[in-house]
Amino acid sequence: MILVTGATGQVGSDLVPALRALQGADRVVASGRRVVPSSPTRGRYESLDVTDLAQLETLVRRYEIQTIYHLAGMLSARGEQQPERCWQVNVGGLQNVLNLAQRYHLKVFWPSSIAAFGPSTPKFQTPQDTVQAPTTLYGITKVTGELLCQYYAQQFGVDVRSLRLPGLVSYRAQPGGGTTDFAVEMFYAALQNRPYTCFVQPDTRLPMMYMPDAVEAILQLMRARPEVLSVRSSYNLAAVSFSAQELATEIRRRVPGFTCRYQPDFRQAIANSWPVTIDDSRARQDWGWQPVYGLSNLVKEMLQQLASRLPLPQADCRQKIEFEEVSC
Ligand code: SER
Repeated sequence: MILVTGATGQVGSDLVPALRALQGADRVVASGRRVVPSSPTRGRYESLDVTDLAQLETLVRRYEIQTIYHLAGMLSARGEQQPERCWQVNVGGLQNVLNLAQRYHLKVFWPSSIAAFGPSTPKFQTPQDTVQAPTTLYGITKVTGELLCQYYAQQFGVDVRSLRLPGLVSYRAQPGGGTTDFAVEMFYAALQNRPYTCFVQPDTRLPMMYMPDAVEAILQLMRARPEVLSVRSSYNLAAVSFSAQELATEIRRRVPGFTCRYQPDFRQAIANSWPVTIDDSRARQDWGWQPVYGLSNLVKEMLQQLASRLPLPQADCRQKIEFEEVSC
């Protein structure tokens, strides 16, 4: 049996259906802070606070859990606003999961992030092993988490696996409280015929990934034979890097008339502290990682998927995105 924490969040909203399709709906227990999940999830759902060890252990025992995808966590921008809670959830929650993993011989997936790097890290082709001195509390929880994972793997033989995820772009769930959220919000504005005010400068370039690539990477890493894994802290992972302006331009090619203006706020400093491109050669060598989506197919598919899900204010929106590659 599989337990997914943070199942209604950004990654969970895509990973849970993928796991249910692969493993069987009955074998996946989704859990989250909400008493009732926001969207009807087919299959089991339990309300869970990951900082509560007893509650977590009850679920592990009741469902005879063998694998935990521990996705519950607070993102970077919200973490800066609630630093104490961010530490409790991100570090305390992970420590609870790792303690139970040791006791019940569980396999664990946990997401780290590009936020585990800071301003003194090389910004281009950031290596797997490099300076990790982040300036956000979120980043500090990610470095701590990576070290905890490595420690539990080395000292206690816990089979924990992790990826440093880039900014994620997905259509199922909106992120909440992240610095890379602008990349998702832009699509909603474009399809609703609204101008978008972007909270980072046009030339802010960050590592990004379309969610299907991220889900595939997680599944691939968890399928890999343990002996091929040379990294037990967290693997660098990359797909594409683009600036806010490049994204806006690519969206405008398919949604003519979309406008974006730039009004940086406190999230600019967070974005500036992160890498621009990532060297993910260890993931490629060890377990065959290969992304599918670049900027153009990401934008095309994201618009198509969102258009069929969003209540659109203007009937011509759907038609508009069928104009492909409109120059601007
Ligand atoms: N996408 C995350 C954020 O913006 C980084 O991991 O906080």
